[in-house]
Amino acid sequence: LTSAFEADLRAVTTKDELEALRVKWMGRKQGLMNEIGEVLKAAPAEARRDVGMQFNTFKKSVDAGLAAELKTETAAPVVRGIDMTLPGTAHQPGIEHPLLKTMHEIVRVFHHLGFSTETGPQVESDFYNFEALNFPPNHPARDTQDTLVIAAQQGRPSRDRLLMRTHTSPVQIRTMVAQQPPLRIVIPGKVHRNDAADATHSPIFHQVEGLCVDTNITFSDLKGTLDHAMKALFGSSVKTRFFPSFFPFTEPSADVQISCPFCAGKGCRKCKHSGWIELLGCGMVDPAVFASVDERRLAEGKAAAYDPAHITGFAFGMGVERIAMIQHGISDIGHFYSGDMRFLEQFA
Ligand code: PHE
Repeated sequence: LTSAFEADLRAVTTKDELEALRVKWMGRKQGLMNEIGEVLKAAPAEARRDVGMQFNTFKKSVDAGLAAELKTETAAPVVRGIDMTLPGTAHQPGIEHPLLKTMHEIVRVFHHLGFSTETGPQVESDFYNFEALNFPPNHPARDTQDTLVIAAQQGRPSRDRLLMRTHTSPVQIRTMVAQQPPLRIVIPGKVHRNDAADATHSPIFHQVEGLCVDTNITFSDLKGTLDHAMKALFGSSVKTRFFPSFFPFTEPSADVQISCPFCAGKGCRKCKHSGWIELLGCGMVDPAVFASVDERRLAEGKAAAYDPAHITGFAFGMGVERIAMIQHGISDIGHFYSGDMRFLEQFA
């Protein structure tokens, strides 16, 4: 009986439940205590004294239990079964992954310059990833050595074959086919290459692409924009310099270096003692790209809008992993994908 009452008492969570419990055990008309009393009256005479004493003890303990409970109920809202004086369990709130953090930071710099965000599919056609970007049919990037292609498409025309996009540049084409100039867009996203993983390469990585198209866009606009962006990302004392380079979809093309943020350009291990770090590719949009865009626009029943006689533009593309590694001094790209909390917690 005692344990039955104690179990009842433990299950009580509200004042109303406590009152219901009191009625159940001590109620004047149908309380269990009355019933038990009646049963005990039938006990044999020689045992009655003993049974009566035990009954009284039990009755007192029920009374005391109810009274004590009523007191705590009215004193403070106690959550039963929990010791409120124990220290709590610390719950880790989630944090933005360091790569996404850097990606959003880059995008934000360009948003402040009036660029807006566009995205596109990771499974892309040869047309958008290569053909419209002026890659010749036998360009090495089209080789499966470099590009992850979707299997069993030999029956399709070459331009319709699907692959994992190797850069975010196909979204330049998609956006220009869909929209007229002026355009100022940034394209963050995942890209895929058939590369072996090592300390600086991952078969899946991230880029932020930029495209600005209007009348009278010049190489000076490109230089000024990227110089500003690099200062915003790495600090206002960082310098930029531009070297001739080649991409099929830009002419002229350039590679951009920044003065080494680790040694302020003096020369250290990180910049191989040159004082400079190569960071991104860029250039003026090749007229052949505008021609492919207008050809596609006409095929889709839209008006041509990218006549290179009036329209010029610049484009750039940068690797997010590389920038995050330089920002934080990370030497192995694999840390980003390891899911190792000891690494990730440093960015909380
Ligand atoms: N798409 C190029 C790459 O992945 C980068 C780039 C983008 C270069 C835009 C020039 C202009 O390497």
